[in-house]
Amino acid sequence: MDKFVVRGGNPLLGTIKVSGAKNSALPCMAAAILTEDEVILENIPQVRDIETERKLLASMGAEVELGYGRAQHRTRIKCGILSDPIAKYEIVKTMRASSLVLGPLIARTGMARVAMPGGCAIGGRPIDLHIKGLESMGATVTYDHGYLEARADRLKGAHIVFDKITVTGTEDLLMAAVLADGETVFENCAREPEVTDLAALLTAMGAKIEGAGTSTIKVQGVTRLHGARHRINPDRIEAGTFLIAGAITGGDLNVDACEPKHLGALISKLEECGVKLDVGKDSIRVRSGSGPLKAADISTQEYPGFPTDMQAQYMALATQTEGTSIVTENIFENRFMHVGELNRMGADITVQGRTATVRGKSPLQSAAVMCSDLRASASLVLAALVADGETILDRVYHLDRGYEHFEDKLRGVGAQIRRMGEVFGKK
Ligand code: UD1
Repeated sequence: MDKFVVRGGNPLLGTIKVSGAKNSALPCMAAAILTEDEVILENIPQVRDIETERKLLASMGAEVELGYGRAQHRTRIKCGILSDPIAKYEIVKTMRASSLVLGPLIARTGMARVAMPGGCAIGGRPIDLHIKGLESMGATVTYDHGYLEARADRLKGAHIVFDKITVTGTEDLLMAAVLADGETVFENCAREPEVTDLAALLTAMGAKIEGAGTSTIKVQGVTRLHGARHRINPDRIEAGTFLIAGAITGGDLNVDACEPKHLGALISKLEECGVKLDVGKDSIRVRSGSGPLKAADISTQEYPGFPTDMQAQYMALATQTEGTSIVTENIFENRFMHVGELNRMGADITVQGRTATVRGKSPLQSAAVMCSDLRASASLVLAALVADGETILDRVYHLDRGYEHFEDKLRGVGAQIRRMGEVFGKK
């Protein structure tokens, strides 16, 4: 199993480039199910979850070419015939976002059989809202042997109010609605940039969608979608992780090829801490300000609030700021698994329910630590970058699910980080 070895102490200097957003790429790849034509996606990150999605689509009979043509980050998908519209457990268990194929499969083939995602390290993560929405659109849903089977000759437009804001739920049902008979109105939708990105692709494929990026989305169903070419948004969570890497190491880092408009909540919070940011059109330069960094509280919220996917990385920074920060996690229960490992490195964090109290200015020491999920892994790397000595991070496969060549990018700006074991995505 791969490990990272990180020696702390170097400020990060130079330019680091952001890849395409995994969380946009996953629904956009699923959207290719909706047409028998070719869909070409640019700026696809080379990360493990994308490879899993490739396998998932290929197992259903789709042609999927990652690294299409000469471009490493271009993907060609053609779902000419979907001979086997089943998302098998072996694939779904490694990536919960596999449930994103549910809506497009029923819309395209009238039938979907999808393994129920198991529990996930960061909470129960049910898909009841996806199912409820599909039932409102006329699908019949049954369960057997750990699989969910949904059928509908043609889905019907409906009025759906989400009980809770769900990102993949909004995306899944949006993909179902674009081929439904009549109008669908969704209320209390997720407003994340990944939803908007998916809607842009669907629109390029001929879908009629209004309001993506707001809490009400209206869709006029069409009978057929065609192929399209689409460029995936930059990854706002990867960009945010690099901003914190620059700030925590007291470096001078230019985070390039990002979309600053998607990073509003993080930018204001870092500025509140005293981090100096020069925000450009598609890049952000991060530098330490004149005085010491100060503590600031965060409370995770749906977009445009502070992203839950940045909570763990922010907590690593909070261990180094002056004063006490209160970190409240509102989206997922049990998303504090990095706390135990940060404390083993010398942090002073206590957790009560959904709130963590981080007492700052802790000198961090190297240790052998274990990654528990994708963003927790990134948090431990950030802590290791300022720890005294050599930290060994085990189970970095969690990190490989969503960060493209993380260690190479960080090494390119001066971090002392290397991988022990196979390097994912490299030939
Ligand atoms: C997506 C992101 C993930 C991010 C999360 C929140 C992808 C592939 N993943 O996950 O990185 O952390 O948004 O920004 O885009 N819920 C239900 N019933 C449902 C669906 C969700 O109760 O049917 C609950 C969840 O348990 C959670 C909350 O709603 O408490 C938000 O979850 P959701 O937005 O669905 O997260 P994902 O889409 O899985």
